[in-house]
Amino acid sequence: MISIQNVFGRRARSLAGRWHVIVDPYRSGAQFLGFPNPRGFHRNLSPRDDARIEYDFAHSPTLAVPGDWNSQDLRLLLYEGTLWYQRAFEAHPIAGRRSFLHFGAANYEAQVWVNGESVGSHVGGFTPFDLEITAALRTGQNVLVVCVDDTRRRDGVPALDTDWWNYGGLTRDVCLVDVPESFLCDYRVGLDGVEVQVDGPAPEQRVRVTIDEHEMELVTDAHGIARASLPFAPERWSPERPRLYDVDLACNGEIVRDRIGFRTIETRGCEILLNGEPVFLRGISIHEEAPLRGGRAHGVDDARLLLGWALELGCNFVRLSHYPHDEPMARVADELGLLVWEEIPVYWEIDWESPVALECATSQLRELILRDRNRASVVFWSLANETLPKPARLEFLRSLARTARALDPTRLLTTALLTMPTSDRRMRIDDALGEIVDVLAVNEYFGWYYGEPEGVVWESVFEKPLVMSELGADALAGQHGDAGERYTEEFQARFYERQIAMLETIPFLRGLSPWILQDFRSPRRNLPGIQDHYNRKGLVSERGQRKLAFSVLRAFYERLAAKSG
Ligand code: GCU
Repeated sequence: MISIQNVFGRRARSLAGRWHVIVDPYRSGAQFLGFPNPRGFHRNLSPRDDARIEYDFAHSPTLAVPGDWNSQDLRLLLYEGTLWYQRAFEAHPIAGRRSFLHFGAANYEAQVWVNGESVGSHVGGFTPFDLEITAALRTGQNVLVVCVDDTRRRDGVPALDTDWWNYGGLTRDVCLVDVPESFLCDYRVGLDGVEVQVDGPAPEQRVRVTIDEHEMELVTDAHGIARASLPFAPERWSPERPRLYDVDLACNGEIVRDRIGFRTIETRGCEILLNGEPVFLRGISIHEEAPLRGGRAHGVDDARLLLGWALELGCNFVRLSHYPHDEPMARVADELGLLVWEEIPVYWEIDWESPVALECATSQLRELILRDRNRASVVFWSLANETLPKPARLEFLRSLARTARALDPTRLLTTALLTMPTSDRRMRIDDALGEIVDVLAVNEYFGWYYGEPEGVVWESVFEKPLVMSELGADALAGQHGDAGERYTEEFQARFYERQIAMLETIPFLRGLSPWILQDFRSPRRNLPGIQDHYNRKGLVSERGQRKLAFSVLRAFYERLAAKSG
């Protein structure tokens, strides 16, 4: 399967809109008595074709695409299973050109047909995939049918248990991409130079790359590949000065337009160095929960709203948890000057012994890195969240680390560790994963789930920087009372004051991304009148109300920013 770099910088037509849907909990559209259904939904038949047919997309309800199904129809809020989508679209294919369908994501497994012909499938709920439809496309009216199944599975990634809502469906944009027969399918532009990849029957192509006013020409080899060093020394990208260059890549009549920043990120001992200078990460964790409207966030507007709140908080860093967010998040972070942690949903208990799980985690990691490796804002690839130490888990994550470093040696690896306090109030970071990653990260909940933060001593057996990747306490926006009363805004604000006092005692701490920017839906949060299926650790409610703790953290970040000059 080819992955096309930067679809939105090409000739791409969005297929967003109302698509017809059939909810199919028994997968009757696909099979009967365990055999493939010859008159299945993929054929888009109706009683007008054959009186025995018992479905009719044209007269079925519709849902908006992009968008999860749970938040669009109350009857589907808790639905987990198979749902079929169908829409017609016009096309006028030209000989000698190719057409692809690009999906920003489909949660969790998608099968796709064009005019009744299978054009491919994908597993993994948060990464893009591109399916070639050149052979299946007709001039005039075409019919697209997509079957999405978001049933959680033991060998899935994530698997059966998460603390977030399993929003199913075509959660991100779907578009039609038109390219030359031999086209520039991928590229990488960074301080280490330019690399281009052509796909098609004529792999040897001239590729003209312009970066602002600087021009370079590459000629790809028989494998469609060419590499060249930069013809100039670019100004560095940073949060203080997020300098982006206009990059045009012209090949075989197509011009792909991008905006790219140039920077270095590395560690030295316990320091994180951005462009060679120590940096402290003033962050916040973010779930992909649409502000105000609810459901899975997607697109530029949601990205600008969420990252705008992070800037208002005084952040220079965001942790996009616990899965790859939509592509605009890293693109908007490039523009705003926010450093980004991206991660794949190797979350809690995974079937570490399953080849299916390893393949799915590896493909999600690969799809994420290939999608975002031109984004200056992205500095961390995170391999996992809160996984219990055991031999099979270590091997699984070693394999993912090898994949990440092979695809992108320029960024730092991390993973959020589940570290529990020892009896004598010491937090000792000694998880074997610490050997694999570049930056240590710990989720801790002193003062909420266990113990108190006062007097805790932190130590690490690794000479590596630490990012406190989670800390947090629930508060219901508008619930006020004594600072000792849980779920009040005062309690959460006091929790942050106590946590900050502890964090300032950790000599190898180089950043934090408290849990979490915004309240988010979770089926695990059932306290009536307080949670009602929301995790309330947000500093902002799902309606956009800022809680008292928002100002406590912002004041801390203002103090840190002033200190760093
Ligand atoms: C964990 C986990 C989060 C979860 C949080 C919580 O650390 O990583 O996904 O939401 O704790 O309990 O609120």
